[in-house]
Amino acid sequence: MKVVVTGGAGFIGSNFLRLSVPRFADHHFLNVDKLSYAANPANLHGIDEAPNYGFARVDIADSAAVGELFAKERPDLVVHFAAESHVDRSIVAPDHFVQANIVGTFVLLEAFRAHCADRNGALFHHVSTDEVYGSLGTTGLFTETTRYDPSSPYSASKAASDHLVRAYGRTYGLPIKITNCSNNYGPYQFPEKLIPLMILNALERKPLPVYGEGRNVRDWLYVEDHCEAIWSVIERGRLGETYNIGGRCELRNMDVVQQICTVVAAETRASVTELEGLITFVKDRPGHDLRYAINADKTTAECGWQPQHSFESGLQATVRWYLDNHDWVASVQSGEYRNWMETNYHKRGAADS
Ligand code: NAD
Ligand code: DAU
Repeated sequence: MKVVVTGGAGFIGSNFLRLSVPRFADHHFLNVDKLSYAANPANLHGIDEAPNYGFARVDIADSAAVGELFAKERPDLVVHFAAESHVDRSIVAPDHFVQANIVGTFVLLEAFRAHCADRNGALFHHVSTDEVYGSLGTTGLFTETTRYDPSSPYSASKAASDHLVRAYGRTYGLPIKITNCSNNYGPYQFPEKLIPLMILNALERKPLPVYGEGRNVRDWLYVEDHCEAIWSVIERGRLGETYNIGGRCELRNMDVVQQICTVVAAETRASVTELEGLITFVKDRPGHDLRYAINADKTTAECGWQPQHSFESGLQATVRWYLDNHDWVASVQSGEYRNWMETNYHKRGAADS
């Protein structure tokens, strides 16, 4: 089987490939990634020499390049991760999100329709987010029938891409599936996202910038659990259907940051009080969704998936990974990263983050 994985040099895509390439020796995986700031070839160490792995540096919004690649490869399975993924960046530069997430998904769907969809057993699996549903109040859970109500340019662009994928399924009969997942964390996550940012800032004794009052709630899932969920839906989910994926792990941001301080302190023999003293409340994110929480009963019932990692074990493994991977950390804390830290946090009143 030929598998195209888009965005496989980013956080979740690379975790998916590191799990899948050794497991499915009879599949050939082609990683299609434009290598944006969020990508890192070092994320692929260990599988980049495997005989069933290949890489193509391609922008998914480039219809000529994608058309040529699909005509040549004719993949049986496309697992589509590639996207601009950071909400705060979408507020600063929404045009990049429209281009990568909406135009990019459209270009892939057209190439899949032209070259793959008529093949027996072909599948286009679209990886999406719970943010398309907007914000919950203090109660309730997102189900697969929750109305779309995106708040940020990022979530609006992912919502548009979901609609396109579903429309291609209904209109052209394309074999598609969609998964909408909650917040991931784990090894190889670019440190613009909450958990790795707080881990690295705590290690470097920099301020821990909490937006607003830190009361926003996210439903956390260890990245390996997300990757396993995607395979369970690919293998057992029904064509044309949407499946929610979540960790059953709702936490307020302040509680996440405090747990990070506790684990970093334990792993480095530092003082928890000293680390908690770094917590700094900064200007809130505009349009900040209050709460996300997933009901994943459909995925469990139909695909037999359940998360295997607790937040405690996943967080400890994640902190250890960042402690053990100095070279990786140094390689991502480049000039571009420093510029983003300055752009995002200076205006929030936390210039030293
Ligand atoms: P990431 O930002 O770490 O990686 C994105 C990857 O996509 C990078 O390798 C980047 O180079 C590539 N990419 C971006 N634009 C591209 C383009 N135009 N052409 C080719 N490649 C391009 O993102 P992530 O956190 O790994 O997220 C992967 C997918 O999962 C995204 O679709 C995201 O919406 C979705 N998702 C993420 C989370 C999360 O918590 N991170 C949760 C649910 C869903
Ligand atoms: O829910 C799934 C989504 O989770 C994915 O679709 C996105 O790609 C992914 O980035 C993530 O979005 P969030 O906006 O929830 O993640 P982020 O790590 O940016 O922020 C998590 C929470 O922490 C959010 O309430 C904002 C807050 N936050 C974030 C940062 C970066 C802070 O308080 N301080 C910070 O410095």
